Amino acid sequence: MGVNRFVLNGISYHGHGAINEIPGIIKSKGFKKAFVASDPDLIKFGVTAKVTDLLDKNGIAYEIYSDIKPNPTIENVKSGVEAYKASGADFMITIGGGSSMDTGKGIGIIVNNPEYADVRSLEGVAPTKNRTVFTIAVPTTGGTGAESTINYVITDVEKKRKFVCVDPNDIPDIAVVDPDMMASMPKGLSASTGMDALTHAIEGYTTAAAWELSDCLNLEAIKLIAKNLRKAVDNDPDGREGMALAQYVTAMAYSNVGLGIAHSMAHTLGAVYDTPHGVACAMMLPIVMEFNAEATGDKFKYIAEAFGVDTSNMSQDEYRQAAIDEVRKLSVDVGIPTKLDKLKEEDLDFLCESAAADACAPGNPKPASLDQFREMFKKLM
Ligand SMILES: NC(=O)c1ccc[n+]([C@@H]2O[C@H](COP(=O)([O-])OP(=O)(O)OC[C@H]3O[C@@H](n4cnc5c(N)ncnc54)[C@H](O)[C@@H]3O)[C@@H](O)[C@H]2O)c1
Ligand SMILES: [Fe+2]
Repeated sequence: MGVNRFVLNGISYHGHGAINEIPGIIKSKGFKKAFVASDPDLIKFGVTAKVTDLLDKNGIAYEIYSDIKPNPTIENVKSGVEAYKASGADFMITIGGGSSMDTGKGIGIIVNNPEYADVRSLEGVAPTKNRTVFTIAVPTTGGTGAESTINYVITDVEKKRKFVCVDPNDIPDIAVVDPDMMASMPKGLSASTGMDALTHAIEGYTTAAAWELSDCLNLEAIKLIAKNLRKAVDNDPDGREGMALAQYVTAMAYSNVGLGIAHSMAHTLGAVYDTPHGVACAMMLPIVMEFNAEATGDKFKYIAEAFGVDTSNMSQDEYRQAAIDEVRKLSVDVGIPTKLDKLKEEDLDFLCESAAADACAPGNPKPASLDQFREMFKKLM
């Protein structure tokens, strides 16, 4: 085995009420003004206020930036950079799902590395020299784990594609993973973001670069999700806590080893149809598991076991099928659709080419041809 790099978020706080740590963190650092990046719905539903009320109570100045849409765009990042510069802030708090945290990552990277102001040049591995501005990330979905990853995903509206930026300089300094920030998620969002976390864990567990350190984290995340996602969708506090932890644990791992083509295809569906990321991942996951099964050694045995299946008398084919069945059952139980009405025959060429070119594709345990991508996309029709 060669040398493996592992990048982790610096300090993280976990558990109900963790956001109460935020004012103390800010005061201990001597920061003067926060730039708060959070999307409009979170502001409307009072989720952002759970944190800004604490800032108010502690006399900490802040300015809110909310020009952020789900599947955030190059423009969301560019106008955020201008807003940051005009704000006089000396650090950032990102409050939201992947979209708010990713927009914040793009803004912070460009503020400290202005040569990447066009945003597009950050695609892939961007060799930025400087760390992002000091960032406290507060996830509100359960979820992308973007508070603990070296990635962010931006949509190029003009070219109809999402691109992944990989850069250890973007990892938030502090992650505050408070399940109470996720309690306001409606059922559908809890389900889809939880299935995104499961897709991270399973793709990260079976990806080409997986190794012992990432495997133990991803396998534990699969167990936590199998145990907690249904409960989280019912807004049970223990279920929320389990999912908050699970999405963070798999993010520690997948961020370092990569994903696979469920994500390549999900990014493409997100860019072309604006399909929510978690829904797209959840729909692709069992289809991609079927395609990948033969290239996964005995890993599906451990996935099936993480779901509580007794595999002791099962053949390889049987435990592989059992793992796929458990994922499909969970997805149906939490209400994820299996068909995408928007998907059109005439879009298939573009979708396949775009998925094949996605940054996550090389990590898949086996390569997929354009025809194989087509067959998998067609299963959604
Ligand atoms: N950086 C990474 O490592 C990484 C990993 C995976 C995905 N992503 C990206 O993250 C984005 C998806 O993020 P997401 O799935 O977390 O969703 P999101 O941030 O796009 O949010 C989706 C919607 O849910 C709402 N919402 C979020 N939290 C809520 C809450 N607690 N209560 C009520 N409503 C809430 C938001 O306002 C928004 O309207 C995609 O662009 C995806 O590509 C990034
Ligand atoms: Fe994802």
